[in-house]
Amino acid sequence: MRVNVTVNGEAREADDVWPGESLMYVLRERLGLPGAKNACEQGECGSCTVYLDDVPVCSCLVAAGQTEGREVRTVEGLADGDRLDPVQEAFVECGAVQCGFCTPGLVVAAHDLVAKNDEPSDPEIREALAGNLCRCTGYEKILDAVRLAAQRRRAAR
Ligand code: FES
Ligand code: FES
Repeated sequence: MRVNVTVNGEAREADDVWPGESLMYVLRERLGLPGAKNACEQGECGSCTVYLDDVPVCSCLVAAGQTEGREVRTVEGLADGDRLDPVQEAFVECGAVQCGFCTPGLVVAAHDLVAKNDEPSDPEIREALAGNLCRCTGYEKILDAVRLAAQRRRAAR
């Protein structure tokens, strides 16, 4: 089947999609957007997180057919051309990226958090990122990055 979906503000078509194919597969393999990572394919790790109609979802758990006519925003769509989103910048500056496999999903989850709450407490940050696993960083630098991104968002109010 053909799936028509808006991705990062652009109307896209994916052809030859089979009914059980995931949004993650379509993004990575058919639309050339490898930002969302495939680590578990079971909804456990969060590395494939993207926005679907402004709600973060695990794209490995969303059937591509369900996205017909809807809007997807991936980690690639957060940057403004060559300018990184402030959350992406904060991850880089705080050393929150090691192997980077978890990073796209964490950035999307953190982006959603600070957009809704630019004064998150540490428990709120932990809660917001609870669905995203990282094997490398020990999470402290990720928390630093989210604190920094929130602080900058507050300063820009
Ligand atoms: S690859 Fe989707 S949650 Fe792990
Ligand atoms: S940086 Fe390697 S899994 Fe998080």
